[in-house]
Amino acid sequence: MDPLHSIDPQVAALIDKEARRQASVLRMIPSENYASPAVLAATGSILSNKYSEGYPAKRYYQGQENIDEIETLAIERAKALFQAEHANVQPYSGSPANMAVYLGLLGKSGRVLGMDLAAGGHLTHGAKASFSGTYYEVMSYGLSRENGRIDYAQARRLAREFKPQMIFCGASSYPRVVDFAAFAEIAREVGARLVADVSHISGLCVTGQHPAPFPHADVVTSTTHKLLRGPRGGMILCREELAKAIDKAVFPGLQGGPHNQTTAAIAVALKEAATPAYADYCRQVVANAKALAEGLLERGFTLVTGGTDNHLVLIDAGAAGLTGKSLAGALERAGIVANANKIPFDSRSANDPSGVRLGTPALTTRGMTEAEMDLVAGFVAQTAANLEDATALANLRQLVADLCADFPAPGIDPGQC
Ligand SMILES: Cc1ncc(COP(=O)(O)O)c(C=O)c1O
Repeated sequence: MDPLHSIDPQVAALIDKEARRQASVLRMIPSENYASPAVLAATGSILSNKYSEGYPAKRYYQGQENIDEIETLAIERAKALFQAEHANVQPYSGSPANMAVYLGLLGKSGRVLGMDLAAGGHLTHGAKASFSGTYYEVMSYGLSRENGRIDYAQARRLAREFKPQMIFCGASSYPRVVDFAAFAEIAREVGARLVADVSHISGLCVTGQHPAPFPHADVVTSTTHKLLRGPRGGMILCREELAKAIDKAVFPGLQGGPHNQTTAAIAVALKEAATPAYADYCRQVVANAKALAEGLLERGFTLVTGGTDNHLVLIDAGAAGLTGKSLAGALERAGIVANANKIPFDSRSANDPSGVRLGTPALTTRGMTEAEMDLVAGFVAQTAANLEDATALANLRQLVADLCADFPAPGIDPGQC
């Protein structure tokens, strides 16, 4: 028996149960994925035992010869992949990475223009509930009522009036291309720094499936655990002139010792992301999202912006006479795990919004292609038509489990299932 099962069978059993869940459902939350066995091995390694406050060759603890090499590898790989002048791979996750950018570029106060949370932006882009909207003066841009796409004219007008020192672009729930060049033009016009948060689309940006944020942005932030398929973590990439301020903000500004096991796993994920196989994967992620969108449209669903350019689609459940929560709940009973989400100009609350967000990163990692996306679109339609029918949903759950069995989940030991 392995140490976990013998020392703590309770936790071991719960992990096994979660492994079975992850293997037997269609995981369609667009920010989730399956990390590779190599990434998981580094994440669970003895690197967790070591304290390493500081940066390579500038540490506050002895015994860093291996850690320095690992962090330098991760930094160099990040710089090469994102075509960045500088990389910091220590942020504990995406939100701390963004927080470090606020601290590094603005200090403890300043004016920021970011994408409205209700329009698809992230909490850290200026939402009142987060540190960003609490400590900084924020203004939000949104979407066009006509087409549901980012309203660049509004962003420009607000920037001229508000004169932000920093503009955030990038989103958590936006199915179309983000025009980094347009944001850069706005930022230059008003003398603001441009920050591109590519957490959701980093993989697409480094494989040519979405325009790259550099050289348009001054700073790029990303989580490492979504499309990038690394461990849970964050990174900040920036121009050399901002390197000192960013590094100082991460450590000692916000954090103590870096999570070395995560740094190593990020290095592994970045190596994997530089391969032709990963470029093929990202191409398929987008092809799958487009096929899913087609399948849903054919079955009568209304999609925000009418389709997708990236890894996600946003269903307007309200247009089908449903709420986002009721559809997401029924989908889960049918074995399709997604999340209820606001749609543009949603009249419903964030707790019970009108949309459902579906992403293809995890399904594509399992090897599914366009044919399976059409099947999934059919499952979603059958779920929507049988929202309260427990038998129908149980039957769908079995069809989903059968489909999942044909596409084993990487990183999940069949012995756990
Ligand atoms: C665009 C964007 N930025 C930042 C984050 C924050 O990442 P984390 O949850 O790792 O703090 C997210 C998370 O979903 C995100 O979508």
